Amino acid sequence: ANPPRPALRAADKETFAYITATHRWQDIIKKAIDNINDSLNSSEIDKNEEGKKIIASMEELINQIQRKDQLIQIDDDGRSDIVTWANILNTYFKNETWFTATWLFAECYLYRRIISIITNTKYWRNFDPFFRQKEDSFKLSFSKIIEFSKRIDELISSSKLIINNKIIFFELAQISLWGNATDLSMLPNFGTNNNQDIEIKSLENSEKFILVNDLEKAWKWLSKFNNVRIDFVLDNAGFELYGDLIFSDWLIQSGYASEIHLHLKPIPWFVSDTTLNDFNWLLKILKSNNFFSKISEIEKLSLEKLVDRWQSYITNSKWIITSDFFWTSPYSFWHLEEKSPELYSNLCKSHLIIFKGDLNYRKLVYDCKWKTITPFKEAIGPLANSKNAPPLLALRTGKSDIFVGLDEGIEERLGTDKSWMYSGKYAVIQFSEGSK
Ligand code: F6P
Ligand code: MG
Repeated sequence: ANPPRPALRAADKETFAYITATHRWQDIIKKAIDNINDSLNSSEIDKNEEGKKIIASMEELINQIQRKDQLIQIDDDGRSDIVTWANILNTYFKNETWFTATWLFAECYLYRRIISIITNTKYWRNFDPFFRQKEDSFKLSFSKIIEFSKRIDELISSSKLIINNKIIFFELAQISLWGNATDLSMLPNFGTNNNQDIEIKSLENSEKFILVNDLEKAWKWLSKFNNVRIDFVLDNAGFELYGDLIFSDWLIQSGYASEIHLHLKPIPWFVSDTTLNDFNWLLKILKSNNFFSKISEIEKLSLEKLVDRWQSYITNSKWIITSDFFWTSPYSFWHLEEKSPELYSNLCKSHLIIFKGDLNYRKLVYDCKWKTITPFKEAIGPLANSKNAPPLLALRTGKSDIFVGLDEGIEERLGTDKSWMYSGKYAVIQFSEGSK
């Protein structure tokens, strides 16, 4: 199925897609180059030489974007998804450029090109060119990390009184939502200024920025169940991931879920997305005694207890960590069943799939120029309307040119300057119960 609207393209100068292709992509690649440069060490001659070649290839990538070149094949790096990329390029984007191809394709393609450059080396093949940014920004969220690790203890004890559970669900869903407000592709220099701290606006104040809030409907659906499976299609590492895990922790402790599937990216993606390495790093760092400089003994113990519990979920298969190349393909989720039938039928076993973040949202709604009043269930196409569509919830702060499901008049109220759509200030929480 194809959506009835045209796709977003960077060629359209009125869009954030255009700003992204003309400015943000270069900044992102330059930052990756800096990270490689800083990892060069003159005593490792061969590795150094290779590092310089990677930098040259990345500089060439910037030139290709600036010249608005046609898209070329991605060098085979031995990963299993490379055939899919070659087929899609040949079939749909043969004579297209970085600007005339669909924005969704061109942007995913950019990240896949970066990974291919790195993987095709001997010494750098497992190097994550965005890792340093993820690490630096996580350090800055120290105070919120501690606050939430204390809070989850309180929430778990108060879940014993069932009447509190709806309020807790709302709170944790919003923590998970606003964790998505800052992502590092929007802030390539985030972390370089030590005064920045990740900010989660106070939840009451931030509610007015949630333009559609289906939490009531999602709660009505979820609270019917006990011990079911819930899935998170995760987005960013570090602080956002931490909030998602706090939410997952409570879902297990409160008895609504007995099994949470956490879907990660198989390769570094869109700067800050969570890979297995990022996931393991988070747990390690929360337990290590020297990562945060001003931590007290009590805070250390609180984090240790938290991580021990999380590790026990993994050991006991209550949390199942998984990744699939479908998540780093350029396909919209309209094609999930057709292109990845096994993943799809597995996901259909879930009682709720929570899609985090902006890129997942773009893929849910096919990255099209929808009218903002288009119903969410229309915009997600087969994922809401096919005969076995799964129940799903999107938690997303707006960082692209798309919002759907808004009431009549909201777009007009927010004004003709469309930057509200991609500033990260506004969010949506949208639910579809599927057709089970
Ligand atoms: O650059 C495209 C984009 O989707 C932005 O719109 C957003 O900043 C980023 O990539 C990804 O955001 P998220 O981490 O929320 O998926
Ligand atoms: Mg992301």
